[in-house]
This record gives sequence, C-alpha cells and structure tokens, in this order.
Amino acid sequence: MVKIRFLGHAGFHIDDGRTKLVIDPYLTGNPLATEKPEDIEADFVLLTHAHGDHAADGIAIALRTRATVISTAELAGWARQQGAIAHSMHIGGAHEFPFGRVKLTIAHHGSSVTGKDGEIVSLGAPCGMLVTIGGRMIYHSGDTGLFYDMKLLGDLNAIDIAMLPIGGNYTMDAVDALHAVEFLNPKLVIPMHYNTFEVVMADPRVFAVEARKLGMDVKVMAVGETLEFE
Ligand code: NI
Ligand code: MN
Repeated sequence: MVKIRFLGHAGFHIDDGRTKLVIDPYLTGNPLATEKPEDIEADFVLLTHAHGDHAADGIAIALRTRATVISTAELAGWARQQGAIAHSMHIGGAHEFPFGRVKLTIAHHGSSVTGKDGEIVSLGAPCGMLVTIGGRMIYHSGDTGLFYDMKLLGDLNAIDIAMLPIGGNYTMDAVDALHAVEFLNPKLVIPMHYNTFEVVMADPRVFAVEARKLGMDVKVMAVGETLEFE
C-alpha cells in the first residue's frame, strides 16, 4: 500500500503506513500551496536539487522532524552543514533504505542556492529519483529537460508512477513531456511543476488528453489530493 499526496509544484508526500517520505516540498512562498512546512511529517526528505522551490522547505522540515535528507553528495552536504541528518548518494547509485530503494538518475538542470552575500553557490548536478516503496516504483524526474536516456530508464525499470514537469521555461513543457511518457512507459503519469509561476503556465488537462491518446493513464492531482494504491 502506498498513499501519495500532492503538495503542489513538484512536491509529494508518500506514506506506506510505516514510513513517510517527502520529495521536493515547496510550500513557503508557493501561492498554490495548501499546507505549511510546520505541519509536514517526514522520516525521509528526498531532494532532487538545491533550487529554492525544491530544497528550502525540505531542509527546514528535516531539521524540525529529524528526518534524513536523501540527495546528491553536494546537496546532502549542504543540508548537513545546516544541522540536518543526511544520506549522500550520486547519479547511477542506489541504496536500500528501511522503506525501499532509491536510485538517483540524471536530470538536465541546475542545482544552486543563493549564499549569504547574494552569491550563487552551485551544488553540483541535479538528479531525478527512482523510489521503490509500498510495492510501487515511482519515478520523480526532478526539474529536467527531455533526454533520450529516459528510454533506458523505461526499458530497465517497470515504472508504476512517473511524476513529470510540464510547465516549460525551466523544464520540459507538455509537448516534450509526451515524449518522456513514451520513453518511460509508466502505468500512471502525474504532471507537476506547472502554474505555480507566470512562466510555467500549462493546462494539465490538455496534456492528459494527449497522453491518453498514447494509451497512457494520467492523473491530474489537485493540490492536497491523495491517491491510494493498494
Ligand atoms: Ni529547479
Ligand atoms: Mn523548480
């Protein structure tokens, strides 16, 4: 069993009844968010990259709950410098956690934060994640452009649920996300990273219609909505 709650933007809360994971929560400053970081419970916080709309609340949640941050070595190190418990990994590597397996995948994007003096601090490569929990394999692509190695991910993994950006500007748009869906061949697609900012506006229903023409099952999640998989 696994329950997946959409926190808005690229954020998801995943609960198998024993362990609670949070991926890329963006609540503070997110005009579409319905929850506050203070209310999020977590045992593990999975972060795909350092940008503020992915990592800032995640590190705050990890500090409050003593959850373990799982991320790339650079971002895990950054979280550790702030007092968080963190597990460092890197792209292509997988690790068995008490809840299941996490494997980091490539993502074509950046991974920076703004330092104390306003300087841009680059924290290495961003990533996507293959997460196995509650008998399901979930692929969260992180922020990324389309890449052909998604075909390899789809060929090598029986992906149940793929969470893919459709908002464009910083990531794939809905047209490129359709190619991603074909490469990944998941059982269910959940669009993300759209409508939060002016420059990432997209109609998820249009994406859903087009993806269903390809034979894909799509769920457009409302912010705060929970899906349960037996
Ligand atoms: Ni980003
Ligand atoms: Mn982002």
